[in-house]
Amino acid sequence: MEFAERVTHLTAEGAYHMLARAQALEAAGRKIIHLEIGQPDVPTFANVSEAGIRAIQQGQTRYAPSAGIGALREAIARDASRRRGIEIRASQVVVGPGAKPALFFPTLALVRPGDEVIYPDPGFPTYSAMIGVAGGVPVPVPLKEEEDFSFNLDMFDQRVTDHTRLIILNSPSNPTGGVMPRAALEHIADVARRRNLWVISDEIYARLSFDVAAPTIAALPGMAERTVICDGFSKTYAMTGWRLGFGIMPEPLAERVELLLTHSVGCTASFTQYAGIEAINGPQDQVEAVNAEYKRRRDVLVVGLNSIRGVRCRAPQGAFYAFPNVSSFGKSSAWLANYLLEEAGVAVLPGTAFGSGGEGYLRLCFANSMQNIESAIEQISSALGKLQTPRSAGNRRVYRKEFSTKDTRNTKGTWHSSRPFVFLVDENVFVRREITPPTASPARPSIWPRCRHADCCCARPSSPPPESPALRSPTLPQGRRNSICKRPSPFAPFGQ
Ligand SMILES: Cc1ncc(COP(=O)(O)O)c(C=O)c1O
Repeated sequence: MEFAERVTHLTAEGAYHMLARAQALEAAGRKIIHLEIGQPDVPTFANVSEAGIRAIQQGQTRYAPSAGIGALREAIARDASRRRGIEIRASQVVVGPGAKPALFFPTLALVRPGDEVIYPDPGFPTYSAMIGVAGGVPVPVPLKEEEDFSFNLDMFDQRVTDHTRLIILNSPSNPTGGVMPRAALEHIADVARRRNLWVISDEIYARLSFDVAAPTIAALPGMAERTVICDGFSKTYAMTGWRLGFGIMPEPLAERVELLLTHSVGCTASFTQYAGIEAINGPQDQVEAVNAEYKRRRDVLVVGLNSIRGVRCRAPQGAFYAFPNVSSFGKSSAWLANYLLEEAGVAVLPGTAFGSGGEGYLRLCFANSMQNIESAIEQISSALGKLQTPRSAGNRRVYRKEFSTKDTRNTKGTWHSSRPFVFLVDENVFVRREITPPTASPARPSIWPRCRHADCCCARPSSPPPESPALRSPTLPQGRRNSICKRPSPFAPFGQ
């Protein structure tokens, strides 16, 4: 069958492909831990669901305005103005079925055939798909691990040309969890203003940033009039299946995007929009509780991954993805993802599902129960242990999690030593420090983020920190050793 040129480059999203493979194994009786799909593992908050149900019962089941019902656009404008520190009018808000339309339709409205569009690599696969459909030329800019997965600004400068029309940013990022620092945004904003470029700033994970708030480029001088903010309800309010998102953009563009919505989807489901109003206007403590829990899970996953020989993982600053470097195994990311599915029973995504810049990495979603995360670390560790000794892996590693001073920063991330050492976690950089174990046994430091097992070998306090009931993992069987508590013997002076 012959197709129009504009769709020939389209491929399936890697997450759906891996999910299908994992489900096939499950159908054959295997138990699989799913860390491939990026969605909250909690149900939609009850008050939000109830608002949606109520809306259906009250007959909100008919066509709505293409750009969204007025009350929702108002609520979004008010909330986004407050959170981003800029003035946003309801007329700038366009509501759509999910956040994807707020990426796709502005791109269709702005990009002319042959226009170049800069986007992050690795990045959310929809970016390159929509650039191609719009007839644009995709121009990837690498995100570098040693730069905390922010844009490489030298590369960015080199790739901006007279044909550049649009820059796509995503912070916090899928798949890396990186947050773009203000200085990088200022640099990009300066180029955008000088060259009269548009920016799409995908901020769907904006509420999900852990150690630092993710700044928005739209708040920088002269940027609101050339920026589309893409955001939505899927991740923040656990509403992936409701399909509700929005774009915030200058009014003339909003009018064009509204027309594209009119002629493609018509409008967004009315009752979904009423649920969205409740999500914004209702209590926000559930969002905060879920985010605090994600942060705990992030800490466990990152520390656990770094305890595996050959794996190096920065602490993501936002979103719910860890993006460990596994290049030392000398295998492709796709091979390793397949291997972990088959051998470890853990579904993860190869970094290359997000572009060629993802080679050497895997993406693991930590919106999953603590128990599954701990089991996944154990299973991945055992499967990777069967592979040949990684090329650049050092001796067995021991970690001390310590949120400490900035002056410990080191972005090299190499380790070769026969001496025991700790990793200090400085926000998002793991810094290797050789240690001289103390002779006396001091009070036990908090090496692991937490341990919930009364009888665990690491003998840390058995009472868990308070957790939202919605998120509580099933209690592990008594007598089970905490899977990430395998602290090796060199650390005995710390009181094992
Ligand atoms: C970076 C990014 N942008 C946009 C989206 C799309 O969100 P939605 O499901 O609301 O369309 C996703 C979903 O995974 C995402 O990761």
